[in-house]
Amino acid sequence: MQKIWICGAGGRVGRKIAGLLDRKPVELLLTDIDSVDITNSKDVMEYAGINRPHVIVNCAGLTDVGLCESEPERAFKVNALGPRNLGVAARVVKARLVQLSTDDVFGGGGQTPYTEFDRPDPVTVYGKSKLAGENFVREFCSRHIIVRSSWIFGDKSPYLEHVLKLASEGKRVEAASDQTASPTGPQTWRKKS
Ligand SMILES: NC(=O)c1ccc[n+]([C@@H]2O[C@H](COP(=O)([O-])OP(=O)(O)OC[C@H]3O[C@@H](n4cnc5c(N)ncnc54)[C@H](OP(=O)(O)O)[C@@H]3O)[C@@H](O)[C@H]2O)c1
Repeated sequence: MQKIWICGAGGRVGRKIAGLLDRKPVELLLTDIDSVDITNSKDVMEYAGINRPHVIVNCAGLTDVGLCESEPERAFKVNALGPRNLGVAARVVKARLVQLSTDDVFGGGGQTPYTEFDRPDPVTVYGKSKLAGENFVREFCSRHIIVRSSWIFGDKSPYLEHVLKLASEGKRVEAASDQTASPTGPQTWRKKS
């Protein structure tokens, strides 16, 4: 049976992926910062060596963009060195590594949607640290998948719930008008809508 290790399994995306995989015939290994801190290379290697996952899905990250700006060292530690540690471990145990990245590796400002062939040009510390994480993953683990997702929403998306609530009450919705994205939602949510 395939063993899938989800790091950052307590976060929004990690919880959702774990819930979806739970219905599949796979063995799930779920960790978060309290069980395996991905910035600790020794712990990461030890956990991978003992459990020998076939796939590692990295949902761990420092995702608060403002916090990344005020604590850049921490952002690079979690978003870049963390994936590096997982990349090294994945190579050693011959696992495939799925790295959750972001459209923030692009600076924005273009008039057309980005593709895989566009050159990353992050402007925020968050985007820069995530791009550094991608590069480490590419460098250390040949069997990788990098997902540059845009805004992810789902069942427990506070902003979406807030908008739906205001709309259902016929109230005015205040939102940024200078940002464009391609939101990604779970299939279950689409069916419900
Ligand atoms: N949500 C989105 O719209 C979106 C869009 C594009 C890309 N992404 C990417 O998708 C991934 C998951 O996003 P998310 O929204 O699920 O983020 P999240 O809710 O902030 O979850 C991140 C998880 O990682 C954990 N974590 C933080 N530092 C860690 C460490 N050193 N070792 C192990 N675990 C650690 C966090 O624990 P604590 O909560 O205790 O810190 C949290 O459980 C991120 O890499 C993010 O860049 C998300």
